[in-house]
Amino acid sequence: MEKIHLIINGKDISSLPGTSILSAALEHGIKIPSLCHHRHLSPIGACRLCLVEEVRRGRLLASCVALVSPNMVIQTDTPTLKKLRRDIVRLMMAAHPESCLVCSKGNRCELRRIAAELGVGQIGFYPMPHYTGLEEANPFIVRDLSKCLLCAKCIRADHELVVVGAIDYHLRGFKCRPATVHEMPLEKSGCTFCGTCVSMCPTGALSLKNTRYVGTPQKQSSTICGFCGVGCSLVTASADGQVVEVNPSPREDTVNRSTLCVRGHFVHDFMNVPERLTSPLMRTNGQLSPATWDEALDVVARGLLSMRKNHGPQSVAFFGSSKCTIEENYLFQKIARVILGTNNVDNGGYGSGRTIVSSINERLDGGGRVTPLAGLEEADVIFAVGANPTQSAPGVGYYLKRASRLKGIPLIVADPRKTELVPFSSLWLALAPRSDCELMNGLAAILYKRKAHDTHFIDRFTEGFDFYRNSLSSLDLEKVSRATKLDLSMIEKAADLLEGKRIAFVVGHGVLQQRFGTLALNALLNLALMTGSLGGEARGLYFLAMENNEVGAWDMGTAPDFLPGRQRIQNHLLRGHWEQLWEARLSPEPGLNIVRMVEEAERGNLKALYIMGENPLRSLPQPERVRSALSNLEFLVVQDILANETTRLADVVLPGAASSEKGGSFTNLEGRIQSFEAVVSPPGEARPDWEILDLVAARMGYSKRYSELQEIRTEISQFVPLYTDLAGIGEAAWLKETSNLRLFDPDREGGAIHFSPVVSTADETSDGEFPQRAILGSLQCHLGSGTRTCRSVRLKNFALKGEVEIAAGDASRLKVKEGDKVRISSPWGSITREVRVKEDLRPGLVFVPLALQENSARELLQLSELGQADSPGWKECQVRLEKVES
Ligand code: SF4
Ligand code: SF4
Ligand code: SF4
Ligand code: FES
Repeated sequence: MEKIHLIINGKDISSLPGTSILSAALEHGIKIPSLCHHRHLSPIGACRLCLVEEVRRGRLLASCVALVSPNMVIQTDTPTLKKLRRDIVRLMMAAHPESCLVCSKGNRCELRRIAAELGVGQIGFYPMPHYTGLEEANPFIVRDLSKCLLCAKCIRADHELVVVGAIDYHLRGFKCRPATVHEMPLEKSGCTFCGTCVSMCPTGALSLKNTRYVGTPQKQSSTICGFCGVGCSLVTASADGQVVEVNPSPREDTVNRSTLCVRGHFVHDFMNVPERLTSPLMRTNGQLSPATWDEALDVVARGLLSMRKNHGPQSVAFFGSSKCTIEENYLFQKIARVILGTNNVDNGGYGSGRTIVSSINERLDGGGRVTPLAGLEEADVIFAVGANPTQSAPGVGYYLKRASRLKGIPLIVADPRKTELVPFSSLWLALAPRSDCELMNGLAAILYKRKAHDTHFIDRFTEGFDFYRNSLSSLDLEKVSRATKLDLSMIEKAADLLEGKRIAFVVGHGVLQQRFGTLALNALLNLALMTGSLGGEARGLYFLAMENNEVGAWDMGTAPDFLPGRQRIQNHLLRGHWEQLWEARLSPEPGLNIVRMVEEAERGNLKALYIMGENPLRSLPQPERVRSALSNLEFLVVQDILANETTRLADVVLPGAASSEKGGSFTNLEGRIQSFEAVVSPPGEARPDWEILDLVAARMGYSKRYSELQEIRTEISQFVPLYTDLAGIGEAAWLKETSNLRLFDPDREGGAIHFSPVVSTADETSDGEFPQRAILGSLQCHLGSGTRTCRSVRLKNFALKGEVEIAAGDASRLKVKEGDKVRISSPWGSITREVRVKEDLRPGLVFVPLALQENSARELLQLSELGQADSPGWKECQVRLEKVES
């Protein structure tokens, strides 16, 4: 596109058509005062501070809304403009209350900054603040709209970035202000308490609710959110050694683009609770009591080495965490493999269904792993399958809502429940639980019948299409309709939306944790291959990651069958390579995953377990079974930040650091590697986890030491091709996707991607004793097992109860109404919850929220290996509901 030439302040400038004068000036280092402008929001020209003079016509223009045009001559800083700006600011200040001394915006108030820059001290007008009541009933946000400048950044953030629509302009003239419909309190509106509007507000009109007044924080640092796999970039502020405030990073190229969710914005207060572990603990006479680091490390090293000596390396196992950093995961598995000689290594990401994703990675030879979320807003069509990102990974939810509502991209949602995404969708396929495989096959059959397959892609990159299409031709679509409980016309409608398009699949835990997860993913990959939806931008597979470093933990080999770089342990060439690098013999046999660790502990074969950053007593199904298995161990080491169900069983507890208390790096679900530094120090004697691992290794006689994080990064970058940029990472880098080059190289030889056979999973049996089907899922405020989020004082004050959702018809059959209690029983356990009646839930379905009430929902599930043919999965189960009489 040809650029437009203009002159700003005597400087020749060229800019693309459609650029505002303000943006053109900023691009060329010319600053113009502004208040209502934000690069992620549409311009509205509300504050008029950005006025500039167009010299030729003698016009004044609001430069944020006026576009560049050829041969314009612009002045940004004339005496007239300065006076006008000063008058505008004086008027704003005259309407502003004089509460700067106790305003939590403190020295960060943009009105004060601009006033100072323009030299406005005395207002010179009669002050006319319009006082409004302080709204602070909710535990997250305080609204003092007497400080509102009507810049509408909050409204635009709410509508354009997080696409909620909780607030809008209310009333007119002097009384105008941003408010909810009928000025309801935020907690009664659709507000999700993401806090994005608060971070946007230039004044103290919107502020974060803190337990005490902190004023201007003493220090601000860039960090990465430690909750879900989106990996939002943050600016974390501290005062008196504690994190007191979190906001989205102002950096240009972040994944979250000035947004956050309620977890990232508000739940950091879990770090300051009394349950923080502040010194090592050792069990003596059955009691855990404080010990020195020396004592604790000695016991850990001797305990692990003696187990290996007396019972062999298979008697020891390591269960790490996808919440811990890349560097920590690398050291953790290295200690297991090199010092203890075992591949019994796994991480908490197992429960997120990563073994199932791994099966797809294998089919794609590790290709297709870098999928920038920005692509979703450019996609032809989006197909969200078993994914509820507005709750589990809100940052992805924002992309989907923007794509659909603001960009008009068709969105198909396949989910048994009417999730928050459904109102944004072009089509909702309310399929029966675990029938996704049937749906994918049915869609593929219809598209094939319509000759809507991508012959060019299929010929060039795939193998086995003939066999696949023969199976599709004989597929009984009526049977698909019965299995999915979807009218055939609905499946045809979905095919209409997909026909001739490259698809962006967003795949969630409804698939990754379900009984037929592997088969459903294989069928989905077939559909992706058939439609040519892989190997480019704005299409492909977007897997939701439950935790912040799920991808990085697997990449670092915290897995029983992978070495770092996801290299198979059984491949003797790859193993030999690592043996050389680490100067150690490695076991060729894959080790135990976490489920098998529990089984072997039950049998007495597993004697020692080292857990880092996980609380399996709360996160795994059948918690009582897990408790008895861990009690059976001879030696249990737990390294964590909070005292919890699992630390209480340990022989030694080592206090680690939360993500804001240490440096490190995480890989998010897109394949973006992001590094961060500590914001505050860990409490008491707690230490960064990588330091603890280095000390443990040294105590066990390992000579290689790491005195700095950078030394671990250098080793990873030298040894793991995917992470060659880690040593000099700066703030972010992307995974090096070497396999993609091979898979989608037009000149490649061999290595085609295979279609897998069409398999039917139709499962129409019902269980007389347990006639209803419960689906377990996350709520936006909480993450995973809730070990961290349930400690947040703000969330406790929000008082979520974890009500079970049941269909209206089921409620009347059971004679229960909203607020009554029901007992939910499965073959594995029984829990009691309050009821929420849902008109739009399919009869027979029940939704049980995770995390709350000690994550008791997990008691309903059977502990089984995910991805195995006979595994019932960790997502749903058959249940029976009974009213509990009060
Ligand atoms: S509340 Fe803040 S962001 Fe919203 S319009 Fe007022 S000043 Fe602007
Ligand atoms: S907190 Fe989030 S959802 Fe609520 S009004 Fe602000 S931007 Fe909208
Ligand atoms: S929890 Fe996820 S979506 Fe929310 S702020 Fe953190 S990384 Fe972003
Ligand atoms: S920044 Fe242009 S009118 Fe406010």
